[in-house]
Amino acid sequence: MNNLAEINTGDGIEKPEMNVHVDRASENSCLSTLPKITSFLIPKEYELLPNASEVFELELAYYEYKLLTKYDIVQRGAFFKSVDGVYTNHHIICSNNSPLTWVGRSKITKSYFKEGNFSTGYATHGLFPYRGKFHPQLIKGILNILKIQPDHVVLDPMCGSGTLNVEASLLGINSVGVDKSPFCNLMSKVKYEALRVDKTQLSTILSNSYKNYKILTNDKNIPEDFSYNDYFKPEKAITLLAFLDAMGYARRSSKSIGELYPSVIKRYVGQIGAFTQAREKINLQIGKSKFEIGDARNLPIESNSIDAIITSPPYSFAIDYAENDRPQLEYLGYEINKLRDEMIGLKGKNKKEKLANYFEDMDKVLSEMTRVLKVGKYAVIIIGSNDIQTGGIRLETKVEEMALKHSFVVDQKIVKPIKGIQNTMRDEYILFFRKV
Ligand SMILES: C[S@@+](CC[C@H](N)C(=O)[O-])C[C@H]1O[C@@H](n2cnc3c(N)ncnc32)[C@H](O)[C@@H]1O
Repeated sequence: MNNLAEINTGDGIEKPEMNVHVDRASENSCLSTLPKITSFLIPKEYELLPNASEVFELELAYYEYKLLTKYDIVQRGAFFKSVDGVYTNHHIICSNNSPLTWVGRSKITKSYFKEGNFSTGYATHGLFPYRGKFHPQLIKGILNILKIQPDHVVLDPMCGSGTLNVEASLLGINSVGVDKSPFCNLMSKVKYEALRVDKTQLSTILSNSYKNYKILTNDKNIPEDFSYNDYFKPEKAITLLAFLDAMGYARRSSKSIGELYPSVIKRYVGQIGAFTQAREKINLQIGKSKFEIGDARNLPIESNSIDAIITSPPYSFAIDYAENDRPQLEYLGYEINKLRDEMIGLKGKNKKEKLANYFEDMDKVLSEMTRVLKVGKYAVIIIGSNDIQTGGIRLETKVEEMALKHSFVVDQKIVKPIKGIQNTMRDEYILFFRKV
């Protein structure tokens, strides 16, 4: 199978054998004779994860089943618990939890995170609650159906918290993450580096947590080994991210950074530690990731060098990413207003002007995506419809129209409902563009 367009062109679903006949007239007919809808899609030796229940999840699970071997599903599948009774790596990574993860967390938060165990809360994805980040399990599913291999390089030109890079690294794939925000650059790098630390580094983080807190609160300039330049030290950078997390948390609660930081740092160590154990258990080889502060409209990347792009641009002006990260950016010494001018979705005096600038910028982004991508490869764009805020203009339709002018064809579209903000945005569209 060469491309995604061929998956659902009637290549025939092999239906598992079962007695689906229900005698409607008979008083003896009983519910236990009714087959589960998933049994028409996937044979019973493939056990789905408990959260794989929404249509988009079943769609991706079905594609994984069709496109990957049983061995590959165990190694890299995103939606399966086991195959032939063998647990998948995804299930093992997600099931390993540490009690430290729950320090200082309310019952509601705890149950929310437990529910998201297989979709959002595993590996290092839970380290900083970045607004508007990808659904990590979905990204793993996309990497799988695109059949991306460890010798490939994938790119997110607006990488935010680095979800694509973490997912690619978990599959041993090399990746590049570009974002205009220096805070995103730090966050994505830390989430990636945290995949590779060992137990000794984690105990150093805990034993130095108070001393480092004092340094971070007292020093006017953050010492170089805490930041993300040439002196990068993972233990210090993880501590810095925990400190910045407590800073954001304090903005939303009645507690101070000092009160929140001890539980945040323990949670970081707990989550990373749980992942480290799972990594060792399954001997996971982590792919290499590179991060750049850069502009998606003018990518610092060679032409025809990338095997896949998976990205999610700002959904026009739905989230003000500069304002959102103001405390962290200011603490790191960056000038917010200067940054705003270069961020997609933020320029313009009113909605009309902002939308016009947004589409102009997105046109440049699409042109850059075609330039850096190899021919025949995919750029996957995840974008919310956002038509309530835009006064009826559908972002996914406009982006699709623009992409067709940049040597892309559309091979697949998957719709994913957005939970929690149904009154502002109902759906996200996963658009699979192939460079021709
Ligand atoms: C929807 S978020 C991406 C979230 C990301 N997929 C994740 O999982 O965390 C959009 C990102 O675009 C970035 N961005 C905005 N303008 C940009 C530009 N001109 N160049 C690169 N990145 C930009 C923002 O900083 C933000 O992180």
